[in-house]
Amino acid sequence: MTSKTILLTGGAGYIGSHVALVLLEAGYEVVILDNFANSSPVAVSRIRQLTNREVLLIESDLADKGNNDATIDRLKEIGIAGAVHLAGLKAVGESVEKPDMYYDTNLNSTLNLVAILAECDARTVVFSSSATVYGDRNKSPVDENGLTGPTNPYGMTKFFNERILADQYGADERWKVINLRYFNPVGAHPTGQIGEDPLGTPNNLFPFIAQVAVGRREKLSVFGDDYDTPDGTGVRDYIHVMDLAEGHRAALDYALGQDRGFVRNINLGSGSGHSVLEVITAFGAAAGREIPYMIAPRRSGDVAEIYANAALAKELLAWQTTRSLEDMCRDHWAWQSQNPQGYRDAEEN
Ligand code: WQD
Repeated sequence: MTSKTILLTGGAGYIGSHVALVLLEAGYEVVILDNFANSSPVAVSRIRQLTNREVLLIESDLADKGNNDATIDRLKEIGIAGAVHLAGLKAVGESVEKPDMYYDTNLNSTLNLVAILAECDARTVVFSSSATVYGDRNKSPVDENGLTGPTNPYGMTKFFNERILADQYGADERWKVINLRYFNPVGAHPTGQIGEDPLGTPNNLFPFIAQVAVGRREKLSVFGDDYDTPDGTGVRDYIHVMDLAEGHRAALDYALGQDRGFVRNINLGSGSGHSVLEVITAFGAAAGREIPYMIAPRRSGDVAEIYANAALAKELLAWQTTRSLEDMCRDHWAWQSQNPQGYRDAEEN
């Protein structure tokens, strides 16, 4: 394989499949490592169809150290330049109920990846971090110097993983580390062929609204309309998943272009916020139907509003978002309307 072969851990997932597609279209080769615990092999087939490119696949549980040697042998055969690390559990509510599972899976995946990359002499990592590391301690827009203070075990694992990677650079300056702090990724590839396919009841706003629009759910519960925001509902910085994936390409281009090691935390957000009611209206317009909803009590752990200061990504990576809330809703609806049951439609055929 060429020197620009990138390992994508969790590459069959929602974010990972879009990152894989954008990297392939930018000329990288891609090796996906995934155990399909929260993703589908159909996504890998769709990436191959959309790009007409080969995608190598290693089906393995990165959190299990017993798999390290086999993974190292395979990656040494292939030859990789670095990794985008997306593998991990990501449901805030579930992390509160099962903190041990989250710490075990999310931290051991990163510790094993560090050992694997060192063995492969590929010490470049772009890590899928999250704005959840900021907690509710900052006034928006939040920049990368904002106070950190995750308010749930999921957010803590993102914070600890940032530290694991930063301390790896502290011990060995050959490491190049970019921790990308995602705000709220939504939307899908415009063809509607890949998208977000949560198992069970969606925790997040967009997939829940999409399932209401396609008739899988009766109505949306709006978690509180008494926040100190323009219309009383929660405000978030939604970012189109294609913009997010392009941010990963920009981060990899930057990291691989540096001649010495470093560690950077970088926000990936639009720099502006939208309320729950604004999203309901925009999604209804995109789907051409009313989105029934009811006002429900606040969800514990929610903040009133959070949106990014996105200046560092623009300055360092020459990257910024280009897609609007309407684009996000149109593309998310294209995915959901073409795949009402997500990838399960294709798995059953
Ligand atoms: C957005 C807004 C809710 C659902 C979390 C994680 C973050 C990332 C994205 C993984 C809030 C409201 C939601 C619903 C609602 N996850 N809402 N009814 O909580 O900002 O971020 O998900 O990477 O790390 O922290 O996203 O989509 O859950 O909520 O009213 O059924 O929608 O109160 O205001 P959140 P969200």
